[in-house]
Amino acid sequence: MDGIERKGGSEASDRYPSRLECRGPRNKPMDLSIVILAAGKGTRMRSGIAKVLQPIAGRPLLQHVLETGSQLQANRLVVVYGHAGEQVQAAMRGFQSQATLLWVKQEPQSGTGHAVLCALPVLPPTGKTLILYGDVPFITTQTLQLLLEKSGCGLSMLTMTLQNPSGYGRIYRDHGRVLGIVEEKDADAHQKLITEVNTGILCVDNALLHAEIPCLNNDNAQKEYYLTDLIARVVARGIVVDTVAPQALWEVEGVNDKVQLAALERDWQKAQAKRLMLQGLTIADPLRFDLRGQLTHGSDCYVDINVIFEGQVTLGNHVHIEANCVLKDCVIGDHSRVRAMSSIDSARIEDHCLLGPFARIRPDTHLESGVHVGNFVEVKKSILGRGSKANHLTYLGDAIVGEAVNIGAGTITCNYDGFNKHTTQIDAGVFIGSNNSLVAPVHIHAGATTGAGSVISKDVPENTLAVGRSRQQHIEQWQRPQDRQNKPSDH
Ligand code: UD1
Ligand code: MG
Repeated sequence: MDGIERKGGSEASDRYPSRLECRGPRNKPMDLSIVILAAGKGTRMRSGIAKVLQPIAGRPLLQHVLETGSQLQANRLVVVYGHAGEQVQAAMRGFQSQATLLWVKQEPQSGTGHAVLCALPVLPPTGKTLILYGDVPFITTQTLQLLLEKSGCGLSMLTMTLQNPSGYGRIYRDHGRVLGIVEEKDADAHQKLITEVNTGILCVDNALLHAEIPCLNNDNAQKEYYLTDLIARVVARGIVVDTVAPQALWEVEGVNDKVQLAALERDWQKAQAKRLMLQGLTIADPLRFDLRGQLTHGSDCYVDINVIFEGQVTLGNHVHIEANCVLKDCVIGDHSRVRAMSSIDSARIEDHCLLGPFARIRPDTHLESGVHVGNFVEVKKSILGRGSKANHLTYLGDAIVGEAVNIGAGTITCNYDGFNKHTTQIDAGVFIGSNNSLVAPVHIHAGATTGAGSVISKDVPENTLAVGRSRQQHIEQWQRPQDRQNKPSDH
């Protein structure tokens, strides 16, 4: 009924070699498996989205754990799921890793030991396994690396000491040596006073897992198969269990509801802000800073409040980002300034550029040195050459703009005919008057000028003035409609 296939303890134990060969053949890297327990229902999230898909720092909880596993050069990442398996697998379909991603269903959920039992068939007989959790997103590779090193030829686990240990499994020791873990619900009054607790994360030799996990029982207060019982069983073999502590609490914190999700997000963001500030980045307020990817920066960069960094963002030296900007997958060169309320997505901005306020830079845009893009200007899939300016109320899409071009206010590249996108080419030194419609495909050659209000639908030769608007007329003695009806105006 519980889905666990029981094996005789001594028989299973006999299969475990007395002397462990944990290094493997020379020059062959150790085989590493990562088992991610994620079968919990996550009812407290009160969401139609599976718990492990809830976003934190811009990505699903589970994705953070998978990425960490990948960075450790794991051979396989095994996700033990119980609910919404299809939804979770679909969401992770785009995940790229050199490791093999395997999905194991646990039904019913009979405890953490049972979850590992379900994964056992896909774990090789040798090598090591790290046990992680789908709802503990920020465990670092550094801590796990240490845990791996400390595991030697047996088992190591991540523990921490808390002032209030309630709810956690307690680590009991004798003269400093780990003897086992007792769950809160099974602990006596004396054991409940222990402040060293189990984070749940551990590293264990596969040979030990294969020998001991099938022997776990559910003879406890919760009638569950506890993974934590593995510790005492390993100790009984004469193996010394080593422990490692996380660098920060947020590394091992899990989330059960949206309150915890937001609290963990903020703890992590504060830690990222601190790390970046210690590297020399000026952050106006670390409590209003959001990193949802990776940020690299040169010296003397300034980030004002409420800036969101997504994906891979690189800032050069002396870059200034004003308040309320969203910067995604972009490179911004030295001495450039992004003024308030601007959005940049997948673009390359060179040095000494000035953007915004309220600029929208869309994918595949390249702004060369000294370009100015002002308020309410949208640029998509365009190149703007050195020193060119589009300062107000403009849309440039699929445009190739040369150097020192001035684009007047209210200019629109009409790049879409309802079916195809067409290119607008504007060569060096062109002056586009205000409120122009540039009907693509169209080529405005070097040094040309277009009159304000023009609709430019034909190529403009070099150094000419193009005026594409109806001539102004004057109708004399003309009367407004209300005058003709002899009614006084309301105004
Ligand atoms: C567990 C540990 C406890 C530790 C605590 C740290 C056990 C028996 N206890 O307790 O020592 O201090 O974590 O937070 O391991 N899960 C499954 N399948 C199951 C049960 C759980 O995949 O059948 C997953 C859950 O989705 C969750 C994780 O394992 O991500 C931990 O389960 P949970 O029920 O929260 O364990 P705790 O009681 O907190
Ligand atoms: Mg828990």
